[in-house]
Amino acid sequence: MRLLVSRQNIGLWAAQYIQKQIQDFGPTSSYPFVLGLPTGGTVLDMYKFLCDFYKSGRLDFSHVVTFNMDEYVGLAPQDPRSYHFYMKKNLFAHVNLPRKQAHILNGQSADLQKECDAYEKAIQDVGGIHLFLGGVGRNGHLAFNEPGSEFTSRTRPVVLEPSTRRANARFFDGDESRVPLKALSVGIGTVLAAREILFLASGEEKAQAVARLSLGEITTQWPITALKTHPKATLLIDEPAAFLLEGAVREKLLAQQKKNPQSMTWSVEI
Ligand code: GLP
Repeated sequence: MRLLVSRQNIGLWAAQYIQKQIQDFGPTSSYPFVLGLPTGGTVLDMYKFLCDFYKSGRLDFSHVVTFNMDEYVGLAPQDPRSYHFYMKKNLFAHVNLPRKQAHILNGQSADLQKECDAYEKAIQDVGGIHLFLGGVGRNGHLAFNEPGSEFTSRTRPVVLEPSTRRANARFFDGDESRVPLKALSVGIGTVLAAREILFLASGEEKAQAVARLSLGEITTQWPITALKTHPKATLLIDEPAAFLLEGAVREKLLAQQKKNPQSMTWSVEI
């Protein structure tokens, strides 16, 4: 995998990358460009720039199909804390993505496992995901795959860790007890099946999880390390998220910074 440290806004970098991928793919009516999409605070800028690109005529979503990575169990789509609401507010309401091409798991389904199985099938039916975007939890989770999740896991109902509910309480009036106990989430295997992966992490509260990538060990206890097993994965981070990196990865980055002090990004293969 590639670790990319950026001094510029990582949301802008990601939005420009997505724009190029969609444009290079080109519009064909039978083959859409399929994106895996995240929620969370880290990717808000990315969505803002994608909306700007659409408004200024630089991006067309008519041949894009999207699959969101997760949703809380029990929240209605109209609930401002649901990921349905988040997506509508931050992307879908502002761009020309046809409604039927945007998929989000239904956390209110009467049969949650059936909902998850149908989601996996829908991803297969459209030919798989071209680019899976994501954020990283403080405990290294990917989507809602908490520590211990198998790297082969697929879309399923999951129980949230207390630390995740604490971290996400900020979206629930700061009240951890209001954060749902369960969610539906694509699996780590679902993410790894994508042709390409771009995950983002910013801020020093993510530094501990990011640092696991510099320790060599690939372990289900740190789902973020699953990225190392994918042939085309990038983790894009800002400088605060990089500050606990260790060993050879740290050395390589420092050497690059010394060589190219004016550069906006430094990357290292790990
Ligand atoms: C939630 C989401 C994850 C996301 C994480 C980080 O737990 N399910 O997909 O990566 O939040 O969110 P933030 O970017 O707000 O730190």
